[in-house]
Formats: sequence, C-alpha cells, structure tokens
Amino acid sequence: MTSERIVTWRSPGRVNLIGEHTDYNDGFCMPLAIAQGCNSSVSRLDDPVVEVISAQKDDPVEIALDELRPGALTGDAEWAGYAAGVVWALQQRGYELGGLTICLDGDVPGGAGLSSSAAVVCAVTASVGDLFDLGLERAELVSVARQAENDFVGAPTGGMDQLASVYGEVGRVLLCDMRSLEVEALPFDLDAAGLTLLVVDSRAPHQLTDGLYGERRAACEEAARQLGVPALRDLTLEDLSDALSRLSSDLLRKRARHVITENDRTLAAAGLLRTGQLRQVGPLLTASHQSLRDDFEVSVPEIDLAVEVLLAFGAYGARITGGGFGGCAIGLMEPAQARAAAIGVDGAFAGRGYRAPSSFTVTPGPGTRRLTAV
Ligand code: GLA
Repeated sequence: MTSERIVTWRSPGRVNLIGEHTDYNDGFCMPLAIAQGCNSSVSRLDDPVVEVISAQKDDPVEIALDELRPGALTGDAEWAGYAAGVVWALQQRGYELGGLTICLDGDVPGGAGLSSSAAVVCAVTASVGDLFDLGLERAELVSVARQAENDFVGAPTGGMDQLASVYGEVGRVLLCDMRSLEVEALPFDLDAAGLTLLVVDSRAPHQLTDGLYGERRAACEEAARQLGVPALRDLTLEDLSDALSRLSSDLLRKRARHVITENDRTLAAAGLLRTGQLRQVGPLLTASHQSLRDDFEVSVPEIDLAVEVLLAFGAYGARITGGGFGGCAIGLMEPAQARAAAIGVDGAFAGRGYRAPSSFTVTPGPGTRRLTAV
C-alpha cells in the first residue's frame, strides 16, 4: 500500500564538450547538461521492499531492503540496479530508509554515451533523499549516485557524468576539477553566439562495462605509477617529453600523452569561454578528437566519419564525446551548416553501409531539480 506523498525529481543526461578520459585521472572536463533526462517519482511503501517500475520496461522489479547487495539483481532485473543501487548506497552510509516505490521515465537514448545511467542514479538519489528527508547536499548527492553506479551496478565510471547531471546550468558548461570536485559554470550561450552544437548519435554499439574502458583506466594508473605521481593530472605539457621518455611502453606513452594534452586543452577552452570566445574553442575540439582517435584509441570508424563530415561542412571543431567505442560525435557549427551537415552525415553513413545515425542539437540545460511542488 502506498501513502499519499509522491515526489518527482528530474535529472539530465550530458554531453561533454571537452576533457575526455580525464576524470578518472583527477583531471579536468567540461560537460553540459542536456534537455533529455530521467524523472524519478517515489513514494513510501509499508512493506520493507524497494519496488522499481520503469515506463520503458514491461515488468517491475521488487527486492527486500535487507537483500540489497551488489550482484543481487541479475538477468531481466539488472536494469533496476541503477535505482535499487541508490537505496543500497544510502543504507551503506547509515541512512534509515523504509519501503518505497521508484517509478522511472527517461528519454536519454541508451548506449549513446549521453549518460542515461547518470540521469537515473541522480534523479533517484535526489527523489529518495527528499522522500525520507535526508537533507542531502549536492556534493553528497553526486557521491551517492556515483557509488550506486560504481559499486552496485559495477560500471567503473569516473564521476564526470553525475557532476554534470547534478550541477547543470542553463547556458553554461561546467569546468569540473575532478580532484577537488569543484565546478565552475562558464558561459556557453549558443543562441546568443549564433552557434549550434550538433550531436550525431552514430548508433554504433557502445558498452562501458565491456572491459575496454577499464583497460584504459588501468593503463593510466600504471603510467602514473611509473612516473611516481598520484595521478596523470599531476603532469603538465612542460613535463610531457620527460614523462614520455620514462614510460615503459609505446602504449603507455600514447595513453599518457592523451591525458596530459587533454587536460591542457580543457583548461585552454575554459580560458576562451571566460572571455566569450566560443568559436575559438573549435580547434581544441578537433585536436581532442585526434588525440582520442590516435593516442587513446577509443574512436570507431563511424565516429571518425561523422567528425570528418562535420568538419567538411564547416564545423569550427568536432570530436567524439563520451566514453567512446561508439556513441556520439559533436560539432560546433553555424546553424545553417548544422542542418546541411546532418544530411551529409546520413548520406556518408549510407554510402559506407553503416546504420543510419540520428542527429540533433543540444543546448546547456538545468541540472537535477524537483518537479513536484514542495
Ligand atoms: C564515460 C564515463 C565518464 C568518463 C567518460 C570519458 O562517460 O562514465 O566518467 O570517464 O566516459 O571521458
């Protein structure tokens, strides 16, 4: 039986403008929250269970509160782990929760690298915290959401997605320092600048838990270990050639070079945005793509093609965004170019026999927020 009170919160997905595979190196990234997101509506239950319902799934999943542990939800029930994992993470922190129903409704395309999962864990954390009056501050919200995704679901993500989903701001990108977890919202008013940020979802398969992401993380950690620093964040462009000469393999040199140069590009982009130079960020995006393609090796032919076409249509810059191995490309463009480029990308994909991509524009939107009245 449910009680009367239902609270609904919404959290967005994200697009990362620049600063890729830097978050788990304690580095810098610059995501923006997007309009697509997930609603979580929660209400109390008398029974000590968590029931998870999704508008995008056929069957609800129910699990007793005292049976929640990583690995408890498998097979057809696995999807519910993003919601139940939040309840588990809160329990781990000593919060006393009663039974509850969590009802999800999301519109972030799954598997596109737009953080549909962060939208779920953040919306659930905020709504459950509200329902049980836990008084969660934004920093704790991020940390609970991340714990659910990392430790309950087992997706080894680096923290950028949850920060973006919680702190998103209209008309701004977020410069995130992933060591201090400080967020600086920088002006990125595309409309005022007469610009468009086009997203091309390559629809090439993308899966973070399949090991390749973990391999990249492990390589970065090994490089930091060999260089005697806590994380690759601790090295700058000035240290680059010396650092590369001290690493034991070409593979580690490539991975480290990406992270060190990407942190530098991200800080350079922040400097440009602070002075309103949006178009000038373009070449940094393209350089980021080349580094992710050649040094970090997380691109795929579909995304490389999309980037090539966006640039051919006059984008100021274009790159893969998100974890990679599929997912989306972004291009910073004039609106008229973006319309033509979306058609151009479709044609180029058809010519290569790739799955039809889907293109849309994004603007920076609000972060996690309450939808129901207090
Ligand atoms: C995925 C992870 C993030 C981040 C990016 C790469 O999206 O969830 O934490 O590591 O990959 O920048």
